[in-house]
Amino acid sequence: MAVVGAGYVGLTTAACLADLGNDVSVVDIDHEKVRALRRHRIPFYEPGLREVVERNARAGRLRFTTSYSEAIPGAEFAFIAVATPEGDHGEADLSYVQRAAACIAESLDGPLVVVNKSTVPIGTGDIVSEVIDQHGAQFPVEVVSNPEFLREGSALRDFMSPDRVVIGAHHREAAEQVAKLYEPLAAPTLIYNLYTAEMVKYASNAFLAARISFINEISRICERVDADAKLVAEGMGLDKRIGSQFLEAGIGYGGSCFPKDVKALAVMAEQYDYHPELLNAVMDINRDQRMLAVEKLRECLGSLRGQVVALLGLAFKPNTDDMRQAPSLDIARALLKRGAVVRGYDPAANDRARTILPELDYRANAYSAARGADALIVVTEWNEFRQLDLMRLKRAMRRAVVVDGRNIYDPALMRRLGFVYRGIGRQ
Ligand SMILES: NC(=O)c1ccc[n+]([C@@H]2O[C@H](COP(=O)([O-])OP(=O)(O)OC[C@H]3O[C@@H](n4cnc5c(N)ncnc54)[C@H](O)[C@@H]3O)[C@@H](O)[C@H]2O)c1
Repeated sequence: MAVVGAGYVGLTTAACLADLGNDVSVVDIDHEKVRALRRHRIPFYEPGLREVVERNARAGRLRFTTSYSEAIPGAEFAFIAVATPEGDHGEADLSYVQRAAACIAESLDGPLVVVNKSTVPIGTGDIVSEVIDQHGAQFPVEVVSNPEFLREGSALRDFMSPDRVVIGAHHREAAEQVAKLYEPLAAPTLIYNLYTAEMVKYASNAFLAARISFINEISRICERVDADAKLVAEGMGLDKRIGSQFLEAGIGYGGSCFPKDVKALAVMAEQYDYHPELLNAVMDINRDQRMLAVEKLRECLGSLRGQVVALLGLAFKPNTDDMRQAPSLDIARALLKRGAVVRGYDPAANDRARTILPELDYRANAYSAARGADALIVVTEWNEFRQLDLMRLKRAMRRAVVVDGRNIYDPALMRRLGFVYRGIGRQ
């Protein structure tokens, strides 16, 4: 089988399918990435992935190429796992998917099932079929939707132990062929029509984003009525109908999925003449939430001009180096605009962040970032920040102001230690 795209989703899919005993060729247009992968080097941070790639590459089950004509001939399945970033008007940019489909068609030498793992607007499966036809495919090709639900940071575990596998196709036979590949995972496998399967992914991401914006809105109210949003979430989360995940007040969601997927779903709804009020509110709340950390800092420090502010965590979430749509980017830019001197430290994302925001002063650890700083903002809740020696941190700082954008510290303890402390939705 072939996997098109060696990013977070494609490489995890390829490595796991190879680990299940399949013969997998990965094709990516990024020559540098392919060169690195051939040396078993993973171009991004994902715990455990290197070992699985190395094991399967050495066993001869996993290969990397930049050439479709090496990857596609002889394959029964071709998984598409290329990016679908936000387009100029908020819609999903399908150009990478279309390009991948065209290249697959040009290299066909027999019947093929094309499995779309990229997150795409409803009906994209039909577009992929059309592109393949237009590029003169001489063999029968079925297009199947198989959205991916893995999370960066726990991608291998998520792929190998999914809550469910969703498969959609116009013809059940093709969907069942794909379902067979997942049999070893013993996960609930749902076969739907193409459009329903595509919609499950958007609806799932939009729902999770809505939970985050919901608790963030509640946290704004909590601040005004002296309630503690973290405890409110705990009290809500134990209700089995609600559950505790994605119910943490903070500076909002980021990443390569939620922002673009909620937006793309909203844009798609408008195209079908429906005004998605809830989705729009989810996005508005999230945008405002990012700036809350800066507002809180101004409350504590007054003008930010010349103040040294250290950002703890830069990646959009812990256990990844992914900087796409990371809240740290908006926060850092807002601080720089107000004249602050901004430092950054992230356990995995310093290098990636440096290429996007070269104006930051990057530090090798949290204590170095804190040295002589007027304030710290906890932007990403890496576990190592929970374990910091807080007194050492305080001694290093010029002024002991902490804005805890992820509510990882105990407010009472922080005040006892002498910090000026601001959490989100709690006093
Ligand atoms: N990252 C996640 O956590 C996650 C989770 C679930 C679903 N998704 C979805 O999966 C898709 C891929 O996301 P990702 O984060 O893995 O993206 P990514 O940017 O990490 O990887 C995409 C890869 O595709 C390659 N590529 C682009 N065009 C190509 C082409 N024509 N032929 C071959 N390779 C090509 C790129 O070089 C890149 O290596 C997106 O639609 C995303 O929304 C992502």
